[in-house]
Amino acid sequence: MGVPVQVTSRYRFAAAHRLDTPALSPEANRKLYGKCNNPFGHGHDYILDVTVDGPVDGDGLVVNRAAFDAVVRSAVIDKLDHKNLNVDVAEFTGVVATTENLAMLVRDYLTAAWTLPAKLVRVRISETQRNTFVWEAQ
Ligand code: NI
Repeated sequence: MGVPVQVTSRYRFAAAHRLDTPALSPEANRKLYGKCNNPFGHGHDYILDVTVDGPVDGDGLVVNRAAFDAVVRSAVIDKLDHKNLNVDVAEFTGVVATTENLAMLVRDYLTAAWTLPAKLVRVRISETQRNTFVWEAQ
């Protein structure tokens, strides 16, 4: 087996969300989530970095890039791009559409669809230039 190397591919998707939990009063939601609780939501241009880890093969590759792109696009991007996360994504029914929860959902989507020999080790989502959320395999 070759030496393990991590490979990260970057994807982008646009989506809208509103942060609001039925567990709290409208006033408490406004206090907790601030402007992210605005009634009609708002959008982000999310940046998704997906990292795999595996041995470098005889072709000098850790992962077939076309296969990597295909699984991320079909399992994640096609489900989230240009969607209202609160309304269009069933997994957010009763779940607050924070980017913490979005990172876990992307991990779940990828894990369920994963067919690649390389191991999925990190999902990193930047919501804005100042906010990044990471799930890493333990
Ligand atoms: Ni937001």
